[in-house]
Amino acid sequence: MANNLLQGKRGIIFGAMDEDSLAWKIALKVIEEGGDLVLTNAPVIKRFGSLEKLAESVGKKIIYADATSVEELDHLITESQEILGGKLDFVLHAIGMSVNVRKKKEYTDLNYDWMQKTFDVSAISFHKLMQCLYKADAMNEWGSIVALTYIAAQRTFPDYSEMAESKSLLESFARSFGYHFAAKKVRVNTISQSPTITTAGSGIKGFDEFFNYADKMSPLGNASSEACADYTVSLFSDLTRMVTMQNLYHDGGFSNMGMNPAILGM
Ligand SMILES: NC(=O)c1ccc[n+]([C@@H]2O[C@H](COP(=O)([O-])OP(=O)(O)OC[C@H]3O[C@@H](n4cnc5c(N)ncnc54)[C@H](O)[C@@H]3O)[C@@H](O)[C@H]2O)c1
Repeated sequence: MANNLLQGKRGIIFGAMDEDSLAWKIALKVIEEGGDLVLTNAPVIKRFGSLEKLAESVGKKIIYADATSVEELDHLITESQEILGGKLDFVLHAIGMSVNVRKKKEYTDLNYDWMQKTFDVSAISFHKLMQCLYKADAMNEWGSIVALTYIAAQRTFPDYSEMAESKSLLESFARSFGYHFAAKKVRVNTISQSPTITTAGSGIKGFDEFFNYADKMSPLGNASSEACADYTVSLFSDLTRMVTMQNLYHDGGFSNMGMNPAILGM
């Protein structure tokens, strides 16, 4: 049920790779709510994902940009404003990748060159993006910037490995830059999402078992990607204008549980 919550708003969606991507579900919901958008992803996705087909299905443009490159981000921000016809009202950062996880390195034997790459792609890219938006004065007043994160930033989930530290850094950038963006009346928040079956999610060891565990532990069950899209749209909308510098749990209650008898079959 659409409510035109984003009528007249325009923005950039990072991280849609295939139809399971959280960013893709969010893009669909933004369009349903009347928003206009440009899709972006790393150039390498041209060869792997199904983004071209997805973009065509909704008649939206893709501008490829490696989120670790300031030059490519600058180009993306300029081009997007030209395509969309003005400054931006919303930006979604939905990017995550760990080289050590991908190469199955244990947490006690990490490769530090790969760790730096992980931090650059998964967290520093968020600072780079915000700095480019800030310097270009590309956000409209009461605009909203959102990044997706995970509770491993606060609690230990061993198989999440160095992505835990990436997410801590990401959330910290949201708070710190949120302060600076507030001077421009722009808000910055992170959404801490339940485990969700996507390409990035399933790359974590033992993901399926953990997905089921989290689903049982959460009184409302795991939040789906469609529900994540609804929540993100609410943060892009004018209904949440005074919410900023927050890490917002969207997890069916998981983050406040200690023990759930359902896990023990009681
Ligand atoms: N799936 C989950 O369980 C879950 C839970 C909480 C948070 N998240 C977060 O949600 C976000 C989206 O992940 P997803 O689960 O939809 O998986 P996904 O694999 O569909 O999305 C990750 C995206 O990051 C993009 N990316 C990687 N390197 C990039 C680069 N250098 N430049 C630009 N883009 C790059 C990939 O191309 C991909 O589109 C990530 O930040 C992830 O950590 C996921």
